[in-house]
Amino acid sequence: MNKFSKLIKAVGLILQRPALLNLILKDEQVLQQAFEKEFPHLELQQTDVFGWPEAAQLTIAPYAFLSGSSMATDFALLQLLCRRYSVETYLEIGTWRGESAANVAPYVKEVFTLNLPDQTLLEMGMSQAYIASHRFFLKDLANVSHLFGDSATFDWTPYKQKCDLIFIDGDHSTEAVERDTRTALGLRKSEKSILVWHDAKSDGEYPRYEVLLGIYRALPAAMHGKLYLVKHALCAVYLPDGADAAQIQLNALPNRQFEIGLKNINL
Ligand SMILES: C[S@@+](CC[C@H](N)C(=O)[O-])C[C@H]1O[C@@H](n2cnc3c(N)ncnc32)[C@H](O)[C@@H]1O
Repeated sequence: MNKFSKLIKAVGLILQRPALLNLILKDEQVLQQAFEKEFPHLELQQTDVFGWPEAAQLTIAPYAFLSGSSMATDFALLQLLCRRYSVETYLEIGTWRGESAANVAPYVKEVFTLNLPDQTLLEMGMSQAYIASHRFFLKDLANVSHLFGDSATFDWTPYKQKCDLIFIDGDHSTEAVERDTRTALGLRKSEKSILVWHDAKSDGEYPRYEVLLGIYRALPAAMHGKLYLVKHALCAVYLPDGADAAQIQLNALPNRQFEIGLKNINL
């Protein structure tokens, strides 16, 4: 098929299913171009938290190896941050099965986790099975409080200036990440509070510009220098005290190796 025929076919398909346009608008190369145009002098930097002394021995539990989950190293990062910075109040946007909240709960005083209400998920056309999987890992955890609402309209007043660490893992569209990041700035207990975003990378190495655009648009420029992609994980983190960092080098030789033992635990 030549280029002209492809164009005619593509336009026909888009007219039939306009949602296909999102595949172009959300294409990572398109978003990378937009990012580089908007932040021409910005060099993405990466930090390796797995070199910290607290990272010598980590146990990630629970971990279900199910679809859509984080990497084990993302939960390890949250645990490391909570331990190293003595986090008391942890708040996250996006609960789902409760895997991230359950992983940090043993290391903090209180966990707040916000999700869309089940009824909203139903109205969005989500399956009963998906909805039922929400909060699965949090059933018996006394220090976890469930908040229900849309992060865009939720009344955040009681949580303002209360949180030591805020984990943003809800809607990953650029607009939603920008909005949730602005919200998170107001939830910080102090300027020493930490912010973490999930899915700021597509995999252990590649940045994800859809999410990065939202983060950098929301953060004041003065904070940009302390924002890091996390090596070996999918997260980005804002560390107020700064951290050792380097520019991203794709397809670099592994600098670190891990050993993973699998233990089947009862719930
Ligand atoms: C990727 S999952 C969260 C995974 C969880 N943090 C973990 O690591 O175990 C994203 C969740 O965010 C919720 N969500 C999406 N948009 C939201 C919004 N606008 N407000 C609140 N929750 C939202 C979805 O219902 C979904 O359960």
